[in-house]
Amino acid sequence: MDLTVNDRQYRVDVDADTPLLWVLRDTLDLTGTKFGCGIAQCGACSVLVGGELQRSCVLPISAVAGREITTIEGLSDDNSNPVQQAWIAEDVPQCGYCQSGQIMAAVALLKKTPRPTDAQIDASMTNICRCGTYSRIRKAVHRAAS
Ligand code: FES
Ligand code: FES
Repeated sequence: MDLTVNDRQYRVDVDADTPLLWVLRDTLDLTGTKFGCGIAQCGACSVLVGGELQRSCVLPISAVAGREITTIEGLSDDNSNPVQQAWIAEDVPQCGYCQSGQIMAAVALLKKTPRPTDAQIDASMTNICRCGTYSRIRKAVHRAAS
């Protein structure tokens, strides 16, 4: 299967029903995308496919062949993406486990809604954070927006 991930071309030899998450992590060694629940509930595995937010733990690789996939590693080489910068400035992470998924969800939100309200952030960012960093996430989204 041919894949485009973070503007790089890959050819992978995996079963067609392998979830994208495991191809990213185990085959391509892009381990920034995390496994949380495996049932599309937590958002730790969030990536962009064709610019749309997707939960990669339930997305078979056959569904994304030939599409543009962006992971946390693809946002920048040096944390210079404005969302990453805002996350650093607001000191958002606690344990950090959910945060690459949170950042990808924020990137997707800001593409569609450049100046989101708190209500729009809450409605669109449904990723779970067991450390409860939601108020800092909101602040960072506003900072990135500005
Ligand atoms: S690991 Fe994919 S949504 Fe939880
Ligand atoms: S920072 Fe720990 S789960 Fe979100």
